[in-house]
Order: sequence, then C-alpha cells, then structure tokens
Amino acid sequence: MMEKDDRKIGINKALKCFGGFVRYYDTTEPLTQIIALVSTGDYRNILACCGGGDQALTMLGAGGGRGSLWVVDINPAQLFVLAAKASFLKKNNLMPSFEQLHRAYPGRITAFKKNIRCLRQMCFYNTVTGRMIAPPDSLAEKYSIATDNGMFCLPESGPFWQKDPLFTARVRARLGRLHFARMDIFDSPDYFKQGSLDLIYMSDIFWPEALTYYQAKLARVAGLLRPGGRIITYLDAGDDFMGEGVSPGRMLAQQARTLALKMDTDNVSGGYLVFERMRRGE
Ligand SMILES: C[S@@+](CC[C@H](N)C(=O)[O-])C[C@H]1O[C@@H](n2cnc3c(N)ncnc32)[C@H](O)[C@@H]1O
Repeated sequence: MMEKDDRKIGINKALKCFGGFVRYYDTTEPLTQIIALVSTGDYRNILACCGGGDQALTMLGAGGGRGSLWVVDINPAQLFVLAAKASFLKKNNLMPSFEQLHRAYPGRITAFKKNIRCLRQMCFYNTVTGRMIAPPDSLAEKYSIATDNGMFCLPESGPFWQKDPLFTARVRARLGRLHFARMDIFDSPDYFKQGSLDLIYMSDIFWPEALTYYQAKLARVAGLLRPGGRIITYLDAGDDFMGEGVSPGRMLAQQARTLALKMDTDNVSGGYLVFERMRRGE
C-alpha cells in the first residue's frame, strides 16, 4: 500500500529509533470509545497518529487493521515507545508497566519533573495574526508536556484493557500488522495511494500555521480514504481555545462537504468526531 519505502520501518528498526524526547507515554483519550467505534466498522487498512501508541494497540484489539495498521509520528521517540510496548507484550504476553520499560531501555524514556508554574507564564504566538494568545488553565497541564521536555504519564500508567487478558491477547495476536513510519501525517498522501485506506485516526494535533496551507493538506489526506472510509479524530475541548480551526477535528467539521466527507453525528462521543468519505452520488 505504501508507494515509497524509505521511511517505512518494522518493529525492530522502530525500537532503534533515536532522536526526540518521549512526550506522550500515556493518553488522555477515552480508549473505550475507540473500541466502540472501531469494533463496529470494517477497517482493514488503517493509518494512525502514534503518540504513546495506545490508540493503535487499542484499534488492533478492537479488530481494526486486519490488513495493515500504519502508525506515523514526526517524533521518532514516539515510534520507539510503541515498538517497546509491542515488543514487551509479544515477549511477556502482558503490557509493560512504565517502570518496566523505563528499566528495559535505560536513558530512552526520561521523565522530567514538570514545571507547571513556568508553563502558566507562557503564551503562544500566532504566526498568521501576530497575536499573542494565553492558553486557558485547562491547557496548562497539557502544554507543560510540550514545552518542558516533560512527558505525559498517568499515575496509573497504561491502557485500561491491560487488566483484561482476553483483549490483551487479541492485541498481541495482531502485532504483526503494525508498521511504522516517521512522517508528518499530512505528507502521507506522498506515500499511500489515494482511496487505499479504510480508516484514518488523527489525534488532536495543534496547527499554529496558516490555515489555507493545512486545508490543502487535509483535502489530500481525506482523499486517501476509500468511499465509505472514515476519519476518527479526537477534539480535545482545550484545543479550541483559538477558535480558528487549528485542530483537524474543528477544521474537518467546518469543511466536511468541501472535502467530500459527511460527519457521522450518531457517533460523536467522548471527544471523538467521525467523518465518512462520501460515496458516488451522495
Ligand atoms: C498531539 S499529540 C496528542 C496526544 C493525544 N492527545 C493523546 O492523548 O494520545 C499526538 C502525537 O502526534 C504527533 N504529531 C504532531 N503533529 C504531527 C503530524 N503533523 N504528523 C504526525 N504526527 C504528529 C506528536 O509527536 C505526538 O506524538
């Protein structure tokens, strides 16, 4: 499915991915909703944002990616984290605790104490309007991760299903379908064929650049879906603070028709938005 091979790597190479800091070890997203959304659809070939990788593993366990599940991230350290979780699961038949991975890969998963106070003093600069924007309190915690080289890690780390042996075994059995690619998800149309994907999962990526630039990129990404294929995107309430469509969820909702997508309003839940690629004649 991938047209060029140069950025495509397997689990063993992903384990050797150096560069970047691990920013997201855990996720704040409600993974139960991902299970509900993915288990009811026919999602053979998936392209997904990686982050800490729990969304990708959860989609596998929910029956998605029976063909391939491609995880992409611009930060190689995130691909490494998923590869490390997957490799541990494969060997030990259970998900690793944070401490186990921390010990298994000395120096690769470094947790810095977060300096929240410093973050609260921070503003974002909008390169388009030239305005300074103060993030709301609800975002302070989140952006401390991005700015302090801290890492998002829950006190009780790991996806909720790690305590469910059946679900965990299903994830493990499907690890062979995971593929890794270090890339900007908005460059993925250079690597995947138009119409070749059943599902694209996008996390709440923040876009501080000109909107028209990303609108054009988003149109090409949407074209990767087969007719009837879907985009699941997470819209963190906090990401709307600029009110200018700077997250994929917001922009997709605003531009669905132009992108030949229809919003699936029956499936809006827990912060997730679902969009379906229109079929001919719709
Ligand atoms: C924005 S973070 C959000 C994490 C998410 N809220 C969660 O709880 O898992 C998701 C990941 O997307 C990656 N990322 C950001 N922009 C990207 C892009 N344009 N293409 C691919 N990955 C990107 C980041 O490196 C990070 O690992």
